[in-house]
Amino acid sequence: GAPVQADVSKLEAGQRMTVEWRGRPVWIINRSPEMIERIEDFDASRLADPDSEEPQQPGYVSGPLRSIRPEIGVLIGICTHLGCSPLFRPEPDAVEVDNWPGGFFCPCHGSFFDLAGRVFRNVPAPTNLEVPPYRFETDDIIIVG
Ligand code: FES
Repeated sequence: GAPVQADVSKLEAGQRMTVEWRGRPVWIINRSPEMIERIEDFDASRLADPDSEEPQQPGYVSGPLRSIRPEIGVLIGICTHLGCSPLFRPEPDAVEVDNWPGGFFCPCHGSFFDLAGRVFRNVPAPTNLEVPPYRFETDDIIIVG
């Protein structure tokens, strides 16, 4: 499939947009400073792969935020368990989990991911959400693929 372009100029902090790439949804999330802090401060022992050691992302992203720019997260919106589409639950009180940091909840079998797509321990999904290949063509234009 051809690369797709996403314009993030109107994506406000805390919002998510979706583009389709190779028949799959790609989420682009503009993470607010509070969201970034919640990702960075989250207790890594509650995550199955906090450092993304499974190859679920390109080599040029690393660290807890798994992104090129700290605020812009780019993730394939498909649960790594059996392929459902997790729900966007960015607010700290949105999910009944102790100290929910905001992220994604998969209703099919109850998997949790943080706002960087990192999977929690002891849920059915085995790996973090995938980060697709992407780059910034300009400050506002992302090319996925
Ligand atoms: Fe998401 Fe099973 S498909 S938890």
